[in-house]
Amino acid sequence: MKISIIGTGYVGLVTGVCLADLGNDVICVDIIKEKVDAINEGKAIIYEENLEEILNKNLKEKRIRATTSINEAVNHADVIFISVGTPSRENKAIDLGYIENTSCEIGKALKEQNDYKVIAVKSTVIPGTTENVVIPLLEEFSGKKAGKDFGVCMVPEFLREGRAIYDFMNPDRIIIGEYDKKSGNAINELFKNFSCPILRTNLRTAEMIKYASNAFLATKISFINEIANICELKGIDVNEVAKGIGLDKRIGPHFLHAGIGFGGSCFPKDVSALIASADENGYEPKLLKEVMELNERQKLWPVRKIKKIFSDLSNKKIAILGLAFKGNSDDMRESPSIPIINSLLKEKCKIYAYDPKATENAKKIFGNKINYCESVDECLNDADACIIVTDWNEFREIYDKFNLMKNKIVIDGRRIIADPEKCKKLNIKYYGVGYKNE
Ligand SMILES: NC(=O)c1ccc[n+]([C@@H]2O[C@H](COP(=O)([O-])OP(=O)(O)OC[C@H]3O[C@@H](n4cnc5c(N)ncnc54)[C@H](O)[C@@H]3O)[C@@H](O)[C@H]2O)c1
Repeated sequence: MKISIIGTGYVGLVTGVCLADLGNDVICVDIIKEKVDAINEGKAIIYEENLEEILNKNLKEKRIRATTSINEAVNHADVIFISVGTPSRENKAIDLGYIENTSCEIGKALKEQNDYKVIAVKSTVIPGTTENVVIPLLEEFSGKKAGKDFGVCMVPEFLREGRAIYDFMNPDRIIIGEYDKKSGNAINELFKNFSCPILRTNLRTAEMIKYASNAFLATKISFINEIANICELKGIDVNEVAKGIGLDKRIGPHFLHAGIGFGGSCFPKDVSALIASADENGYEPKLLKEVMELNERQKLWPVRKIKKIFSDLSNKKIAILGLAFKGNSDDMRESPSIPIINSLLKEKCKIYAYDPKATENAKKIFGNKINYCESVDECLNDADACIIVTDWNEFREIYDKFNLMKNKIVIDGRRIIADPEKCKKLNIKYYGVGYKNE
């Protein structure tokens, strides 16, 4: 099939590269020329395992290219995906500016077209957006009619950063929200060889499924973090508790890993947008508000811990292992490292940080206020304490490296250290979220 993807960020680039790899003819569009040039040169603009290799393979086989021209992309495609950002406004409600601009641009380009094309929203948008914002703009600027001259779908994306290629290729389900049957059939055709269930719904149900999924997952995280905080007070290891409750089929084992909260570009923004939207409609979503509040509090768990250990933090050298919001990613959006480091800077700590992939993005946030290290060893050297912020695999078994520290104090915000008991034997003072020996 001929596909165009408007907006080439995490979702757009991964979608484009994977659909090309499945044999489709793909054009990726972005307004940022540097991103477009980089893609055409075979450089993935984000870090995601295998992304660059698959991009290069498909560039070579001429199944993918990038452009800044929406006209060219609309002209090319049978199906046009919209995957531009939907950030938060200052009041935390969804900002639909990019969606509106893209809808106008696609509408203008559609005006010149005679073929039937389907426009599919992949961005996460508040229920009602495709019907009340996207379709009216497409119709106004094209002078054509949805459901007659062109098709419209809403196909939410569920990929996880850090495992994006795998998730796109192996989804648990595909949700096709359709304006009408003909639109839905076109998207169904594109995904027909996937072995997962395909659920076809109306547009606003598909939009809500995405929000409800993220809200539920965020709730699960805040729930296990709350249990972790109680476990700590009672001398219980939350990981054993999580294992015990996860064996109940009604609960399930996934997403019960206690830590310092969720970040990234999706959970915080999507739960906040759902809260704002419910409030606007006159319903106060109390549970979701608590989920967000708990998460904000949890991010500062390591700071509370370290303040209990040192009565005065000024001039203490603190090693920060991990800056990205999660392992296998270079994404710093809403990363707990940001409030943690800012709080420690206020206490006049000297920060030495190491992340295998996110350093360049972190520099845009912290500038020269912190020191960036090139290895775990450099980071830990002579440190008064270490805080593990990101669950990078390479931090799992670094017991020997803690010998490089001035004080062997390890604050594990992700419960990533494989064997906390071994730390005890090696005279390492270990503190983990929801860990018993506190
Ligand atoms: N990142 C994730 O893990 C993830 C997962 C599922 C869903 N989503 C949703 O997908 C959407 C995109 O997320 P993302 O993380 O890829 O965003 P992103 O910010 O990484 O990328 C968006 C891209 O769109 C481009 N853009 C903006 N306006 C444009 C226009 N008029 N024409 C062409 N390009 C334009 C931007 O330059 C940017 O490169 C959001 O709604 C997000 O909530 C994200």
